[in-house]
Amino acid sequence: MVETYNDKVVKQFTVMTVIWGIVGMLVGVFIAAQLAWPWLNFDIAWLSYGRLRPLHTNAVIFAFGGSGLFATSYYIVQRTCHARLFSDALAAFTFWGWQLVIVAVAITYPLGITQSREYAETEWPIDILITLVWVAYAVVFFGTIAKRKIQHIYVANWFFAAYIITIALLHIVNNLSLPVSMTKSYVIYSGAVGAMVQWWYGHNAVGFFLTAGFLGMMYYFVPKQAGRPVYSYRLSIVHFWALIAIYMWAGPHHLHYTALPDWAQSLGMVFSLILLAPSWGGMINGMMTLSGAWHKLRTDPILRFMIVSLSFYGMSTFEGPMMAIKTVNALSHYTDWTVGHVHSGALGWVAMITIGCVYSLYPRLLKLPGMFSTKAIEAHFWVMTIGVVLYIASMWIAGVMQGLMWRATNADGTLAYTFVESLKLTYPYYYVRFLGGTLVLSGMFVMLWNMWKTSQMARDTSPVAVTIPAHA
Ligand code: HEM
Ligand code: HEM
Repeated sequence: MVETYNDKVVKQFTVMTVIWGIVGMLVGVFIAAQLAWPWLNFDIAWLSYGRLRPLHTNAVIFAFGGSGLFATSYYIVQRTCHARLFSDALAAFTFWGWQLVIVAVAITYPLGITQSREYAETEWPIDILITLVWVAYAVVFFGTIAKRKIQHIYVANWFFAAYIITIALLHIVNNLSLPVSMTKSYVIYSGAVGAMVQWWYGHNAVGFFLTAGFLGMMYYFVPKQAGRPVYSYRLSIVHFWALIAIYMWAGPHHLHYTALPDWAQSLGMVFSLILLAPSWGGMINGMMTLSGAWHKLRTDPILRFMIVSLSFYGMSTFEGPMMAIKTVNALSHYTDWTVGHVHSGALGWVAMITIGCVYSLYPRLLKLPGMFSTKAIEAHFWVMTIGVVLYIASMWIAGVMQGLMWRATNADGTLAYTFVESLKLTYPYYYVRFLGGTLVLSGMFVMLWNMWKTSQMARDTSPVAVTIPAHA
């Protein structure tokens, strides 16, 4: 019998989300260790920091985050449209194609094959594969919307739609290049234009990959898990249009005090400040969905993952606009403060919302009332929260210290500190970050174990094995 919905591909992407999460974070912990103990590169080229760092960023953003977005968007679009995915074959192609992209990245980056453009390091043959997978994704997603049996298009799908269209645009424009061999190409942009295109891409990858897609997830799973409707549907629409309209212009905040024209830098700064409003609109809408049901936070660690992720979202989207102010950026740029900001968004918001949604989604896919162990989710929640706080707090302190030391001058105008002095004082914070990252990673292993036990439970025909109460 053909099932109403195509959940096979959703299941595949869901499992890979956790596996790639572990791989990406493992590389993150390893490079965090290399910064603390540099001998860990063992003088082996493919283990060197410069090659593994982009492997980490791509693995966590595109393999972990990307698989989570594929899984949830496919699940949500079917449920909210009351329609099966447009094409099973194309959906399967997106799964296998995306895994192939990830494997290609994992092989080429350590070999040093790279375009050297942050978050877009893939060489041109992989870029073409990404384009094919993305077009198939768009056909499956929009095809499903087109054959929907419900007239209304739920707001989560708007966010997914914006993310799919924008990523296609960013990927193609930023990767226009001239190949000279199978493993080398030169991007067509150069100089200040090249920098501007790169950060138009980089910033909107944050805005549309790391934000809009995950907001789509949030708008479906927070109300589901809380058993309440979205706090304000009207606010969600205002939030959507405001976010979409403003994000595009904020990219130049990555290029303050560079060769980019001054007016463009100021434009980036102003739009970044305005961006605070829609970002907080979304955060408030998500959090207030719990009004009248706050007590559920006491007993439901999945909901706690979601609400804490929204708090981190609020925090990082307050911090971001502040860092976009030129005078603040003069202090923060090049320091570990930026890395702290990145991970309050990436670990606090992106990873936590994904983990919360996977815990909510996985048992539904297996037609079970809940995960195998709620206690294990609870443990994961605490280990991860403590880990994230250790990570970002240590980087904030290290970053501000670095910024202040680098700008300190003696009475005669000479620098008060050498760079190495600031580096030596940073080591204790690198140890703390390593500890935080290790805690986060160990939480992921608990998650994998819990998922394994849950799937065993599904295979077991006896429903008596279910030990936890059903959730909404
Ligand atoms: C166990 C968890 C993690 C650890 C230990 C970790 C560690 C690191 C380290 C050591 C760096 C390099 C910092 C530097 O060059 O100074 C880094 C960069 C980065 N990581 Fe992670 N990371 C983790 C999780 C994540 C996750 C889940 C994401 C995204 C969803 C992420 C996104 C990034 C990004 C975007 C950068 C580049 C930052 C920049 O260029 O400023 N990380 N990470
Ligand atoms: C209103 C929202 C936000 C604004 C205005 C903003 C602003 C900024 C600014 C000013 C920087 C530092 C640029 C520099 O000095 O080089 C930055 C870096 C960064 N932010 Fe945000 N941010 C926001 C939200 C977020 C969120 C939610 C995430 C992650 C989910 C995030 C991820 C990043 C990343 C990855 C970088 C580092 C880029 C790099 O240098 O490699 N940001 N952001």
